[in-house]
Amino acid sequence: MKTLLYDLHLVEDSTIAIITINRPDKLNALNATVLSELSAAFQQANANEKVNGILLTGSGAKSFVAGADISGFAGLSVAEAQTLAENGQQVFNQIAASPKPVLAAVNGFALGGGCELAMACHLRFASENARFGQPEVNLGIMPGYGGTQRLTRLVGLGRALEMMLGAVPITAQRAYEIGLVNQVFSSEDLIENSLKWLHLVAKKAPLAVQYTIEAAHLEGDLANGLAQEAALFGKCFASTDAKEGVEAFLNKRSPKFTGK
Ligand code: COA
Repeated sequence: MKTLLYDLHLVEDSTIAIITINRPDKLNALNATVLSELSAAFQQANANEKVNGILLTGSGAKSFVAGADISGFAGLSVAEAQTLAENGQQVFNQIAASPKPVLAAVNGFALGGGCELAMACHLRFASENARFGQPEVNLGIMPGYGGTQRLTRLVGLGRALEMMLGAVPITAQRAYEIGLVNQVFSSEDLIENSLKWLHLVAKKAPLAVQYTIEAAHLEGDLANGLAQEAALFGKCFASTDAKEGVEAFLNKRSPKFTGK
């Protein structure tokens, strides 16, 4: 891969795939190559039975992702711009739909498409120097990789509009306060703590984790969401891990999950 690094981090019998966007000279801006390689890397991680979780981060100490690559915007027609947004949304939807937990370790700027990419991940841990923003209106454009939808869902309409219209990036601490970020660490501790969390989840029953992610992302009204939650809850009981988890609790021992 030209624009990504792909590594596996092993602790005992759990494996985390680390995907690092690697264009530090352009603050890891997202061009077409990055997007297609991200899609391939997530496919690879999800297809690998040994991988329990995925950590996504940016190369260098300064930036997670400073946005879509602005150099690709010049001269786009209406149809081309719409297709650009749709292609980006497709990759981000693929990330959000990952059956394995995806954690964004936001190590600096998460602007525009970078903020949108972090929001497509299931959780966000940030370094103290991280900055989150949707500055598109400064360029005469608007968020196109899901910002108007995912930011409003994560932080509420008022706060989302404040970020998208004012276009003033917020600190990691503020992002934590409004629920955009789950946890904040020093730059030195960010990756270690992110991996630690993913390895913790790796000890749980994989199908239960997968169905929980799926249920938590359901859109629509409460009645429909509850019905689908009940169906997924039922599906858990087709797994040997559900039998194992319950039996282990009743017998006062630790469960041994197999992912089946
Ligand atoms: N697209 C393309 N290139 C980008 C980029 C982006 N979104 N963000 C940064 N870069 C490039 C810069 O053009 C520069 O390249 P160069 O050295 O070839 O000129 C390099 O990354 C370093 O950026 P620079 O602006 O010199 O760093 P800085 O520390 O002075 O400023 C930012 C950092 C993030 C504040 C600034 O780069 C910026 O505002 N970027 C655009 C953010 C944005 O609007 N994102 C949303 C896009 S829709």
